Formats: sequence, C-alpha cells, structure tokens
Amino acid sequence: MQIQDVLQRQLELRRQQRRHRSLSVAAAAHDFSANDYLGLSQHPQVLDAFQRGLQQWGTGSGSSPLVAGYQKPHAYLRRHLSEWLERDNVLLFSSGFSANQCTMRALAPLYDRVLLDRLSHASLLDGVREQRHWKRFAHNDATHANKLLKPDATNLLVTESVFSMDGDSAPLRELAALDVDLWIDDAHGLGIIGADGRSAASELSQKQAPLITATFGKALGVMGAAMVGTDSVIDYLVNYGREFIYSTAFPAAQATAVSAAIKIAQSAEGARLRQQLDTNIALFGELATRANIPLGKSEHAIQTLVVGSDANVMRIGTALSSQGFKCGTIRPPTVPEGTARLRITLTAQHKEAEIRAFVAAFADCYHRLTETQAV
Ligand SMILES: Cc1ncc(COP(=O)(O)O)c(C=O)c1O
Repeated sequence: MQIQDVLQRQLELRRQQRRHRSLSVAAAAHDFSANDYLGLSQHPQVLDAFQRGLQQWGTGSGSSPLVAGYQKPHAYLRRHLSEWLERDNVLLFSSGFSANQCTMRALAPLYDRVLLDRLSHASLLDGVREQRHWKRFAHNDATHANKLLKPDATNLLVTESVFSMDGDSAPLRELAALDVDLWIDDAHGLGIIGADGRSAASELSQKQAPLITATFGKALGVMGAAMVGTDSVIDYLVNYGREFIYSTAFPAAQATAVSAAIKIAQSAEGARLRQQLDTNIALFGELATRANIPLGKSEHAIQTLVVGSDANVMRIGTALSSQGFKCGTIRPPTVPEGTARLRITLTAQHKEAEIRAFVAAFADCYHRLTETQAV
C-alpha cells in the first residue's frame, strides 16, 4: 500500500471520530482561548525590549548554546530567573515541550521509579514512554502516589501546578512530603500565582521541589522555557540533554523580551494585573453560576465545561465563533475519552462587558443544546 493511502485512511478515521484537527487563523474579536494571562504579549515594555534586542543582536542566535548561540541576554535571563525563583540554576529551551521532553529523557533512566499524574502534559509522557519503570498515579491523589513509590529507592514524581486541561491545582505540599524528588511543571502558574507571581517556587523550597518547568509563552507573553533546579541537574542537562545540545538557541532578542516580562511580573504593575485577573475569574464564575453553567472546579484562569460528546463541543464552539467569541474546544486524545470540553481562559485584559457578553452567548448556546438533547 502506498504511504498516501495509509495517511488518508488514518485521517479519515479522525474525521469519522469528529477529531480531525486543522489550522485556522486566529481572528475572533473576543478571544477566551489564549494563555496570555496578563496581556504581556502586547505590553509596551516587552515590545520595546524585543525591538531593541533585535536591533542589537539580530533575529537569530546562529547555533546551539554550546557552540555560539549562548549570548549575553541569555546569561542575564538565566540569572534573573534563578534569582526571582530563588533556585540555584536555570537552563533555557526553545519551548516548554522540549524542556520537559529533554529533561524527562535525560533524568528518568537515572531513577528507580518515575511517577506521573494521570493528567500530565503530553511532553512529559513523550519523554518517559520508552522507559519501563514509570507509572501514573490517580489525578492529584498523593495517597495513591505514595502506594506506587518504590521503597528504599530513588523516586521522581512529576505533576503540574495548574493543570492545563482542567485548571485545577496539584496538592503540592502533600506531594512534597512524600519520599520523592518533586518536579513541578509550572507552565500555567508562573507569573500568576501568589502575590509575587513566583508560583510553585514561593510555595516550596528547592529542597522540597528540586525541579520546576518554567514556560515563557503563557503568562510571560513571549515564547521559550527554562528548567529550574540545582546546579548539578542543570550541569547534567547541559551535558546529556539532547534537545538542549543539538538545537539552535532561541534568539537573544527573545531573551531580552522575557527578562522585560519578568520585571513586569515582579513589579507593582504585575501585582495589579494579577488582581485584575482574579477579579475577572471571580466575575466569570459568578455569572456562569447564575446562568446555570456547570463549570469544573477551578479557581484559576483556566475554566472548563465538560460536555462529553465531541460533536456537541464542536457545535457550541462553532456557534460561539459565529458570534465573534473564541474559546478552546478540547477533544480526545488531548483529554480522556468521553470528556470533551470547552476550555475558557480568562486574562487580565478582558473587560467586564466582554465577559458578560461571552457568558450570555455561552449560556445561550449551551442551554439550547441541552434543551434539544442530553449533552
Ligand atoms: C502543562 C504544560 N506543560 C508544557 C507545555 C509546553 O509549553 P510550550 O507551549 O512552551 O511548548 C504546555 C503548553 O501547552 C503545558 O500546558
């Protein structure tokens, strides 16, 4: 059989399941799907830092960090981030996906057992899949995780501060109390949790949580990521992390933009933006409750409505889109079978009227569907 036939057969399968994905240019007037929680991707200081960085350093770093791609702004960003998070050291990556995959591939073979939350991100799963000694524990269940530990051995336990598909948070203190090295993927927490935005790092010391994934493409509004941890882990990744060693460093200008974004997150303005985000989350929750929308449990910017059927999720998504609103339409295999959902992401930039209009449209689409069929 020709490869083209194989591809078409697999794609047809996705279509039949109503899970075929395709790209569409973001054009919604009211976006409730992006992770730019503080609106920093449009902040004048971040834009200015990026532009000045481009003028000074050009558009590309030219090579791997171990060749010539590691430049002054990268070094500054590493120092800045490790000081902010009060951790020994930091290593930069082009994306959170590659940071997680690289670190998991490099470290997992060194442990006797690796435990992942059942809802861990695809990048973590992809990094550990080839190993034999990993297990998943029930979502956010420290008691179950404890049962799966290998006694008198080295255990690595991986979780997320805020889960990307549900918006709920991990019981970090309970997990840190287990006999494990705790690795927290802080993609959706960094910049927005806690009075100072330091998220997991402010809740737990380096000893309690020796490894953190920090991403720059969400609350910090740019792109790229870092692994944050002890000197020895970072040194190990520099020497054994294949995605780090064999990949071009992200542009120095991007590092200047991320540093500018961190400065804002640390400042009084950052605290104000976080407060506005909290106000918007509370307003959304209140309006949704009043409109009888049974949202999942989340106090964070990610809010979900599990609908179950893929087709119904797409119906609601399309109806909202025709009214100029965009929210996430999430289907398996991204989430478990039978739990297709709408994912709504609040930011500090949403205006009260916009949130009210969105909830009204959302409630209308949802209730119309429930009236005609059981969703
Ligand atoms: C929990 C989590 N980890 C890692 C990533 C990957 O980060 P990036 O988008 O920087 O590749 C994401 C983003 O999708 C995420 O939600």
